[in-house]
Amino acid sequence: MTCNTCGGAVALGSDHAGFELKEIVKEHLSERGITPLDLGTDSTRSVDYPDYARKVCEAVLNGTAEKGILLCGTGLGMSMMANRYKGIRGALCHDHFTAVAARSHNDSNVLILGGRILGADLAREIVDTWLDTPFEGGRHERRVSKFDE
Ligand code: RB5
Repeated sequence: MTCNTCGGAVALGSDHAGFELKEIVKEHLSERGITPLDLGTDSTRSVDYPDYARKVCEAVLNGTAEKGILLCGTGLGMSMMANRYKGIRGALCHDHFTAVAARSHNDSNVLILGGRILGADLAREIVDTWLDTPFEGGRHERRVSKFDE
């Protein structure tokens, strides 16, 4: 389902270690007809990943974007920072299986990728799987609702 206010935009954020893969993911989203909202960084110059996690999480929480994708070297720092935000369900995915479960079981609204771990083809496959897999609801709804209690 596409959100009315943001038109289904996906916010993107990375640090220097995730920058190159972010550019690949951004192009891939555009090719799919999805509006990428690129919140930086804009080069491989060293920056602090929490600053970009914050930008993307705020965009998702305030409705500027429907979903977000964060990239750093390992995905770990972005994951730790993103999941400090109530309402953000950040999922660090390394493969097809975790991308499916992140959506179908966890209703993830932020995908996190490791720029120093994933090749371009696998990253594109993970992004597609994550975008195209619906939340199953049911027992998973009950569990996910406990995150923010
Ligand atoms: C940057 O060197 C690296 O620490 C960062 O990209 C990330 O992997 C942190 O979790």
